[in-house]
Order: sequence, then C-alpha cells, then structure tokens
Amino acid sequence: MKITVIGSGYVGLVSGACLAELGNDVVCLDVDSRKIDILNSGGVPIFEPGLEDVIKNNVAAGRLRFTTDVAESVAHGLVQMIAVGTPPDEDGSADLQYVIAAARAIGRTMTEYKVIVDKSTVPVGTAEKVKMAVQEELDKRGITSLPSPAGGRGTGGEGPGTGQPAFSVVSNPEFLKEGAAIDDFNRPDRIVVGADDEQAIKIMREMYAPFQRNHERLMVMDIRSAELTKYAANAMLATRISFMNELANLAERVGADIEHVRKGIGSDQRIGYHFLYAGCGYGGSCFPKDVRALQRTGEEYGLPMKVLAAVELVNDAQKSVLLQKITRRFGEDLKGKHFALWGLSFKPGTDDMREASSRVVMEGLWARGATVTAYDPVAMKETRHIYGERADLRYADNSKDALQDADALVIVTEWKIFKSPDFNVIKSRLKQPVIFDGRNLFEPASVAALGIEYHGIGRES
Ligand SMILES: NC(=O)c1ccc[n+]([C@@H]2O[C@H](COP(=O)([O-])OP(=O)(O)OC[C@H]3O[C@@H](n4cnc5c(N)ncnc54)[C@H](O)[C@@H]3O)[C@@H](O)[C@H]2O)c1
Repeated sequence: MKITVIGSGYVGLVSGACLAELGNDVVCLDVDSRKIDILNSGGVPIFEPGLEDVIKNNVAAGRLRFTTDVAESVAHGLVQMIAVGTPPDEDGSADLQYVIAAARAIGRTMTEYKVIVDKSTVPVGTAEKVKMAVQEELDKRGITSLPSPAGGRGTGGEGPGTGQPAFSVVSNPEFLKEGAAIDDFNRPDRIVVGADDEQAIKIMREMYAPFQRNHERLMVMDIRSAELTKYAANAMLATRISFMNELANLAERVGADIEHVRKGIGSDQRIGYHFLYAGCGYGGSCFPKDVRALQRTGEEYGLPMKVLAAVELVNDAQKSVLLQKITRRFGEDLKGKHFALWGLSFKPGTDDMREASSRVVMEGLWARGATVTAYDPVAMKETRHIYGERADLRYADNSKDALQDADALVIVTEWKIFKSPDFNVIKSRLKQPVIFDGRNLFEPASVAALGIEYHGIGRES
C-alpha cells in the first residue's frame, strides 16, 4: 500500500519505518528541512532504540523515502497519516494548527480519493475540523468529485458519483511509548480505528492486516470515541503515577515505606504492578499535555475534570520534591554547592527532554545558586541544545566523572546503567556521600550500611 506520513518526529518516523518494514511504500514528509536533510544523509534526528536499523533497511530496499515536497507526498499515499505535533496552547488545550495545516496541504493538492488518518493525539471533534479544512480547500479549487478506489468518482457521500466520499477522515491514535516505540508499534495491545465510512474501514483493515495474524487487535468504533480513548489512556496512566506520588509523600509522614505499599497493592490483580512507581514526577511530550488538554475539553463541555486537576497539581508539586529534600538537607541558599545529576531525559530509552523533571531540578538548583554537573546516556546533545554553555552547568562524559567533588548525587531518570553503580566510586568522588534518589533505585538500608546518606521517595521518615 502507498502510505504518506506527514510529520517525521517520534511517532511519524516510527510509524513510517515500521509500515515500510511490512512491505508498504512509504513517504515521510516534514516541514523541517533540517530533519529531512539528516534523514536523507543516513542519520536519524531522534534517539529511539532500533529505529536507525529499520530506517536504513527500508531506505536501502526503496520502500521508505523522506521529503519536504508537499505535492509529491500528497500525490503518493492512498493513506495520508497525520503525525504532527499537538503541543499545548496557552490555555492548555491542544494546539491544532499543525494538524489543520497538514489537512489543508492535503486538500490543496489531492487529485484522487485519500484516507486521511489522524494519528496525532487530538481532542474530540478534531476529525470534523480536519474534514472541514480539507473540504474548504477542495471547494476553493472548485472540485466537486474525485476518482475513487472503488471506481467512478467519489463526491461528498451524498451527491452523484459512486456514493463514496471524495475523502475520508479516520481517527487512529497512537499508543507507542518512547524508548520501546518499535516494539510497541509492531506488537500493539490494540489498534483503535474511529471511522464512519466502510471504504475507509476496509483500507485501514488492509493496512493493519499484518498485525492481526495472531489475534484480532483492531477495534473499530465511532470517531469521537477513538479520539477520547487516547486521552483516557494517558490520563489513566498519569493518574496512577500521581496517586502513588501523593501516597509516597504520606508514607514519609507516617513512617511507612512506599515500596512495601506498592508491592502490597500491586499484587492485587485488579490493580497490577504497572505504572505504580513513586518518583519525582512524570514528564515527556504526552502525559502533561494530554492531561491538560482533557481538562480543557471537560471545561469546554461544562464538566470540570476534578480528578485530572488533582493529578496535574500533584505532579507539578512532585517535580520539586527532590529540590525540597535538597534544601531541607543543605539549606535554601545553595551558593557554593555543587551537585552531580544522573539522568536528563524524561524517562529511560529516549533523548526526549520535553517537560522532564530534570529541568525543574536543575533550574531550581541554579535559582538557589548551586552548580551542576550532569550526565545522561543519550540526552547530552539535547541538553546542550536546550541550555547551551553556561557557567553553572558542566557536561560529564560518563556517570563517574559527573560525581567529582559534588556535594551530593541527584538521580532523576531510572536508566539501567544507574541501577548497579559502584558505591565505592560514588563515596570516593563525592565530597560527602549523599544520594537523592528520585526513582527509588536502591534499597535505603543497604546504601545506608555502606555509609551513604540516602534520600528516596516515600521511604524516609
Ligand atoms: N512521542 C510520543 O511518545 C507519542 C506517543 C503517542 C502519540 N503521540 C502524539 O503524536 C503526535 C506527534 O508527536 P511526536 O512526539 O512524534 O512529535 P514531534 O514533535 O517529534 O514530531 C512532529 C513533527 O511534525 C512536523 N510537522 C509539523 N507541522 C507539519 C506539517 N504541516 N507538515 C509536515 N510536518 C509537520 C514537525 O516538524 C515535527 O518534525 C502528537 O500529537 C503526540 O501527542 C506522541
């Protein structure tokens, strides 16, 4: 099948590369010529495990191409998959300008029937807006019907011709996780398709047929339910995290250990262990913005989402929990203090630093006069891109070097390589052996037994 992916970021690149791997003929479009240049010269502009190989193999096989040429891209795919960003607007609602721009670009140049797929995370009602934008562009061109794959010409579904629409809009939200995106895309728990016409559903079934061999994964539903499903999933996961974080703070007050509590409740099959870890807050490109956007949707429909308001509030506070522990230990004024920071990406397996807790921690330390030496296995380049060169930030080449002469080690991201460190090295390189562990990587008693002062989350009374 010929597929065009509009937007070559985390979702677009992974979707495009994985669909090419299945034998489809894929063109990935982006407005960012820098990204397309990198891709066309054999590079990959983001870090995602396994992605580089899938891209290379499929480019070499001639099944995957990258371009900034809108007309060429729109002409290419029967399926036009929109995977552009939907960042938060000033009021927290999803900014749809990129989605609508992509829709208009399709409407401006399409000359035959297209299935336009909203893969970006978009609020309920967006498919209708996309439909209107495409239709407006067709109207401007005076186009009343287009060739349909079923033969004949498709119109608006109502008029003459085959009775098929001139184009279809489908909601097909993406549930992949950065850091495991290739696996998630290839082995999805479910594929949600929101559609209201049979031709589009048939084409989506065809495109996703290779994913169906083992068992039925496709869930076809109405468009609004599909759009809401994506937000509901992220909101639920964020809720579990904030619930555990709030409970962790209570555990500290009452002298309990949140790790015992986690195991105690996770063993209940109705609860389960996933997404039940206390820590220093969630970040990333999805949870924060999606929780906010769903609240705005609630407001728009006169239904304030009280649970989600609390989820956001708890998370915002939790991102500062390490700073509170640090100032409790070293005082509000941190002038002259120096900290080693392990982990900059918002979670392991990615270089994505959008809304990362590390940023709140570093900026809070700087605001109090401290300096930082930071290390992350893959996000150093991204950190330089965000913060550049500054006197209060040093970039370490490895985790050990970051420790040198620091007053304490602060762990923000739970990368695997941080999980079994040489504690002797930590002790010898730090000025004093103090660890603030934002991800509860270690057992407090074992670390304390080594003569290291340890501050975890929800496990100190
Ligand atoms: N990152 C994730 O883990 C993830 C997971 C599921 C869903 N999503 C959703 O998928 C969408 C994309 O997220 P992302 O993380 O891939 O974003 P991203 O910022 O990494 O990539 C978006 C890309 O779209 C490009 N773009 C913008 N306007 C364009 C246009 N008119 N034509 C062509 N390209 C255009 C940008 O230049 C950018 O490269 C968002 O709605 C996000 O919420 C993201």
